[in-house]
Amino acid sequence: LWSVDNVGGVSASTPELKEAGLWIKNGEVIAFPTETVYGLGADATNEQAVENIFLAKGRPSDNPLIVHIGEMEQWEPLTASIPEMAKQLAEVFWPGPLTLIVPKSNAVSEKVTAGLSTVAVRMPAHTVARALIQAAGIPVAAPSANRSGRPSPTKAEHVIEDLEHRIAGVVDGGPSGYGLESTVVDCTGETCWILRPGGVTKEEIAHVLGENNVEIAASAHSSTDQTPRSPGMKYRHYAPDVPLYLVPGTVDEMLKKIQEEQAQKRVVAVLAVEEHREPLGGLADMFFSLGSRMNLSEVSASLYDHLRQADLSGADVILSETFPKEGLGLAIMNRLEKAATQS
Ligand code: TXA
Ligand code: MG
Repeated sequence: LWSVDNVGGVSASTPELKEAGLWIKNGEVIAFPTETVYGLGADATNEQAVENIFLAKGRPSDNPLIVHIGEMEQWEPLTASIPEMAKQLAEVFWPGPLTLIVPKSNAVSEKVTAGLSTVAVRMPAHTVARALIQAAGIPVAAPSANRSGRPSPTKAEHVIEDLEHRIAGVVDGGPSGYGLESTVVDCTGETCWILRPGGVTKEEIAHVLGENNVEIAASAHSSTDQTPRSPGMKYRHYAPDVPLYLVPGTVDEMLKKIQEEQAQKRVVAVLAVEEHREPLGGLADMFFSLGSRMNLSEVSASLYDHLRQADLSGADVILSETFPKEGLGLAIMNRLEKAATQS
């Protein structure tokens, strides 16, 4: 475990990052913080190292990885060509929580892309992440650093919970900022498709490309799409072990649902916004405040941590309230729906 303060002065020559970078260069699998969630990184050009990521996570090998770059010059060699709209998005949103899917070059192993002819690339904004990639000197393939199917880690301790003894090390840079994975955008066609909503919203992308040039894939809206464009979307995801149910509608409906569960002698944990602590907190056996409804970035930043806490709380069932599917709310609802138990 390397601890690195994410305040000023962090660079590729920071001793801890130099060392961790060397481990990656040598083919080891290392977890590191990004501004979205913690990633599980290895040398994207080393097939054995990439395979070790899949092994550590228990991830199906048909689900491709994102290649993380530390500077712009690393992008082009990974691609066969960079579509104009991808360039525009990179210019505006990189470094940041946006992953762009473009045609891949021969330099990218099919182990990384799970046999696809496209590659997902992202330049993270987190200073520790970028300094680490620069220290390694190579593009770094990294999925989220959770065991496959679990909520993504937003703290180093989540990584340790899931992956201790399965990976070579963890760089601890404190809690990640957005708390939800990056927005994934397929830029290989006539229009750009949002495959996974995230910190960069549809509204922001439309502002750059024009309203007519961006679409949201059905599976980014709901979890019932039968023909996902992104292999990752067919798996149940982000899920706690305790059953999670979403309760749309009013506070009264949530109160009714809590009573129903308690009548079945179940211990109930509730995830809801701070504004609803008063009516719900008294009745629920456990109450986890997601933050203010007026500030959805609070909700996204803490959502996975709260799912993990509720999972470990001793509850028999977790009930969560829902959010309007616009702006950040779309990403929050996408994750909640994927985490929820299908009834
Ligand atoms: O914020 C993030 O994106 C984090 C941090 C660590 O950067 N990473 C992350 O990786 O969430 P992962 O592997 O958990 O999710 C990557 C998603 C998956 O749904 C995968 O199917 C999709 O991106 N993906 C990767 N390459 C793809 C491709 N060539 N075509 C379509 N989807 C792709
Ligand atoms: Mg993941």
